[in-house]
Amino acid sequence: MQRFSVIAAAALALLGTSVAQARPLEAIQKDGTLRLATEGYYAPFAYFEGKKLTGFEVDLAEHLAQKMGLKFEWKTISFDALLTGLKQDRWDLVISSHGITPEREKAITFTAPHYCSGAQVIARDASIQGAKDLAGKTVSAQTGTTYLDYVQKNVPGVKRVVNFPTNEAAMNALMTQRADAWVTERFLAKEMLAKNPKIKFHQGELLFVERIAAAVAKDNQPLAAAWNQAFAASLKDGSYAKISHKWFQEDIRCP
Ligand code: ARG
Repeated sequence: MQRFSVIAAAALALLGTSVAQARPLEAIQKDGTLRLATEGYYAPFAYFEGKKLTGFEVDLAEHLAQKMGLKFEWKTISFDALLTGLKQDRWDLVISSHGITPEREKAITFTAPHYCSGAQVIARDASIQGAKDLAGKTVSAQTGTTYLDYVQKNVPGVKRVVNFPTNEAAMNALMTQRADAWVTERFLAKEMLAKNPKIKFHQGELLFVERIAAAVAKDNQPLAAAWNQAFAASLKDGSYAKISHKWFQEDIRCP
C-alpha cells in the first residue's frame, strides 16, 4: 500500500503542472496580484498598441482587479491555450471574449457575462448575408471559437470550413479569396472595417448571439464570486458604462 502511494506520488510529480491546483482566492489576496490572461490579438477587446496591451476587456479587468483590492499582471498566449492554462495554474482568470457554452462549462467556471454580442457573417459579395447563403461556400473562422464550432455543426451545405489560429488570419483568408465568408464577432468586424476603408467587406446577418464572460478554474468559485461582486458594483456606479462607451460609444452589457 505504502509502496503504491510512493509510486503514485512519483507519477503525479512526473505529470508536473498538469496536476497543479488553481490558486484559491485567499492565496491571491495574500499575494496581492491577480494573474490575468488573454489572447491579445482581438481588437477592440484586448490587443497591443505598440507594446501596450489595451482594449475594452483590458480596461474592465484592470478596473475590477482594482475594485477587488488587487494589483494585476497580464500574460498573452494563443486563444486555444487559454482555458487549459487555468487548470495548470498558469494564471487565475482568463478574459478573452469567451462565449458561455455548456461544453466549456464542463472544464471551467464562468463569471457573470461582461457583454453580449453576436457572430456575424462577413463577405466580399453582398449577396452572402446569412446561414442559407453559406451553402456551397468556403467559410473561415478562428480555431477554438464558437464561430468555428457553429459553422461546422449548424450550417448545412457549407463546402469547406477553414480555421486559423488567429482571427486576423481568418480575415486574411477572406481578403485573399481563400474563403468566401468569414464568421467573427460583430463589434470587431465593425471596427476593423471602419479602420480600413479600403477593405470593402460586407457585414451580413448574425448567426447567433452569445453571452461573453471571463473564466476561472473549475473549483475556483470564490474567485468568480469576488469578480462578480466587483462587476455588479461597476454596473451600478457607472464605471462599466464609462469603459463601454470609451470603446464602443454604447453600452454593450447583456440585457
Ligand atoms: N466569442 C468567440 C468564442 O467564444 C470568439 C472569441 C475569440 N477570442 C479571442 N480572443 N480571439 O469562441
